[in-house]
Amino acid sequence: MTELMRPIDDLLVNEEQDNNLTYFAFAKPNQASPALAPTRASVGELPDVLAGRYRIERLLGAGGMGAVYRARDLLSEQFGDPDPYIALKILSEEFAESPDASALLYSEFALTRRLRHDNVLRLHTFEVDTDCQRAFITMELMRGLTLDKLLCERPLGMPWKELRDIALPLLDALAYAHARGVLHGDMKPSNVMLSEEGVRLFDFGLGQAEEGILPGLPHLSRSRFNAWTPGYAAPELLEGQPLTASADVYGVACVLYELAGGKHPFRRLPSTQARDERLERELHAPKNLPKHCWPALRNALTFNAADRTVTAAQLRDAMGATSSLLQRLRLRA
Ligand SMILES: Nc1ncnc2c1ncn2[C@@H]1O[C@H](COP(=O)(O)OP(=O)(O)OP(=O)(O)O)[C@@H](O)[C@H]1O
Ligand SMILES: [Mg+2]
Repeated sequence: MTELMRPIDDLLVNEEQDNNLTYFAFAKPNQASPALAPTRASVGELPDVLAGRYRIERLLGAGGMGAVYRARDLLSEQFGDPDPYIALKILSEEFAESPDASALLYSEFALTRRLRHDNVLRLHTFEVDTDCQRAFITMELMRGLTLDKLLCERPLGMPWKELRDIALPLLDALAYAHARGVLHGDMKPSNVMLSEEGVRLFDFGLGQAEEGILPGLPHLSRSRFNAWTPGYAAPELLEGQPLTASADVYGVACVLYELAGGKHPFRRLPSTQARDERLERELHAPKNLPKHCWPALRNALTFNAADRTVTAAQLRDAMGATSSLLQRLRLRA
């Protein structure tokens, strides 16, 4: 700490030191123990305030490896930020001990940070709380409904106009991620939020960069955390093939099909089982989907990866296009 900073520090010490936790963010950057990746045997219980700055308020959701909390950024609050709320994703105690899990969390951070798109969740920082030795991500707090919750409210699916307002931004986000060389790996309703600020694709926890993108990131064996979601993962993933953009297209197609008619295309069965039971033959267009969208969506739902040729951008274009009949009617009106 420089001499110049000392008066500010003293000032902070004198003011409500006990409950002014922001003080610690300024005065105790913990120079003695730099933020290194957590090591085994040192992971502690989750404190109320992480890294001297983020007060945990409540659990927003828990997943395979960790949990997401709503938190208050005490530093932003101290500077008068009217909205100091953030979300914070942290590994569970069990996983925090594994260096691979921290690296996976970092990989999620690095992949998502590569994406700057209105419909992709914005991340702020990757940090490690040096006391409890846990890595965490801070990010934009979304307020709204994930699509799985929305589906509970709309068991019969949603009208085309509403569906379109979700499908287009979602496909736009996915096409953009693919164009940036980022694969999502876990397209499913609970990883898409219809937030107050629009559609947000998030949770790149199983994501991967395409060859040559972010080359410094460790190549992790994700199969150890085996996490593909069987009802939304393409058959080739469940059979051990690597993640591809086409597998993401299969997942997003299941989500869109479900939103359109309220029913998953293959009864949420693992795609390999659905394929073996030849459920593809019974597949028909959901009732709320305009006819001109069906060929592209149908192709996206193809079990055989080699025949699943439609890209996220093409699916978006198919969903965004108005049929020539609709166009003619509009011109006449
Ligand atoms: N930034 C956020 N703002 C608000 N809620 C969030 C945010 N991020 C995640 N959530 C909530 O927490 C849940 C779990 O988040 P996320 O999907 O990132 O974690 P996960 O551990 O990978 O979960 P899973 O393994 O179930 O996919 C989400 O479904 C959502 O309800
Ligand atoms: Mg998730």
